Amino acid sequence: MKVQRFSKIGFIMAAAGSAVGLGNIWKFPYMTGEYGGGAFVLVYLVTIAFIGFSVMVAEMLIGALGRKDTVSCFEELASPKKKWWKYAGFMGFNGIIIMTFYSVVIGWILYYIFLIFSGLPQTTQEAKQIFNDLVSHQILAQIFFHTVSVIIVGYVVYRGIKGGIEKINLILMPALMIILFGLLLYAFSLDGFAKAFAFMFEPKWEKLNSEAFVRAVGHSFFTLSLGMGAIMTYAASLPKEASITKTAFIVTFMDTLIALVAGLVIFSFLFQFGAKPGQGPGLVFISLPTILHNFGTLGTFFALLFFLALAFAGLTSAVSLVEPVVQYLIDRFCMSRTKAVILISFIYWLIGIAALLSYTQAWGKVFSFFGKPLFDLLEYTTDSILLPLGGFAIVIFVGYVLQKERVKAHINRPGEMNDLFYKIWLFSIRYIAPVALIFMMLNLMGVIKL
Ligand code: PFF
Repeated sequence: MKVQRFSKIGFIMAAAGSAVGLGNIWKFPYMTGEYGGGAFVLVYLVTIAFIGFSVMVAEMLIGALGRKDTVSCFEELASPKKKWWKYAGFMGFNGIIIMTFYSVVIGWILYYIFLIFSGLPQTTQEAKQIFNDLVSHQILAQIFFHTVSVIIVGYVVYRGIKGGIEKINLILMPALMIILFGLLLYAFSLDGFAKAFAFMFEPKWEKLNSEAFVRAVGHSFFTLSLGMGAIMTYAASLPKEASITKTAFIVTFMDTLIALVAGLVIFSFLFQFGAKPGQGPGLVFISLPTILHNFGTLGTFFALLFFLALAFAGLTSAVSLVEPVVQYLIDRFCMSRTKAVILISFIYWLIGIAALLSYTQAWGKVFSFFGKPLFDLLEYTTDSILLPLGGFAIVIFVGYVLQKERVKAHINRPGEMNDLFYKIWLFSIRYIAPVALIFMMLNLMGVIKL
């Protein structure tokens, strides 16, 4: 099976499109709000700089050397005695688990884009009611918009790397950036901006408990799309002349910048009207529309732009969540792209319905397990357990299993890293990242507590 190749800019945009997603604009602000701001942001930034970037290089390297689906990549690159490493490639299936709730949230965003035209809520009470009504009672509307999201994503993936994924990213990523930076310019002029800045960058150490720490590390994997083979699968179509180091740097930088910009924009609007930051997943759905209502027609326009940006970000990430398994079915089972897309879409569409039902009043109990709605379980399991585990497999594989000469030949050559950076990167992959991830897992299991 001949793999299509991205263009150089297409690859950067596609990888950035995968990284920049709901994680940046929806999740990062509400998590920052919940975990008290500064200290959470600091752990997140440190993890990105010292671990996230290195893991991204490692993940891209596996894809660029293997040039196939995630399972085949691990299998081919492992020595004959270590072919069992192919099982690590099943990390690609995490994407489908993530898509079950990710697509539901994209559905909410699409719903809000329509809602905006009928006017923004005037009070937080009203906004809460609209969001809660959607999530707890509007089963059909949620299924409808979740289905629309599944169809859009399915269509893009069906069109393939060049005709679908590269194209959508080349259009939507610049559009998203223009919108967000435009909103930032406006936020600068608000009094709330200084408060937002202080909230995000003044660490409150007392708020940093084990849970906040685990969530910050987990989120840095989620936001960079690491540990589930999305970046690996895209890198399998990396153009020959592209530099892994440079691309990984640009993607990491863009992703972080956009999360910080989104946070500043949202908190500026919030603090301008004295709203509270710790409102959980409803933050952008409840607070933002009400606050924007205060800006009159301009507010409606901002709301539309904001939700469009959110939808763009979500869709470009969603395609990267579906592509790894589709590529796997094509490579390993010689399935046609059309069939693979239909099969995978159907599976996560169905589980997605169970996930959205788990928040409804009528079905919530049926779809709750261990006292938690299925939606929350899926989200928590993926970002706090499966992605870090996938990341662990990646660093151990590149750091200890892949032939050292092969790694060096690719990463320590002109256009990639010089000797010093290569050594630092290798150290990070072999020691810092694994130790940090083990530390995180121990925290998660409650064995140690911060
Ligand atoms: N990075 C995406 C976000 O921040 O929303 C989510 C994601 C995409 C996670 C692809 C993992 C992945 F492989």
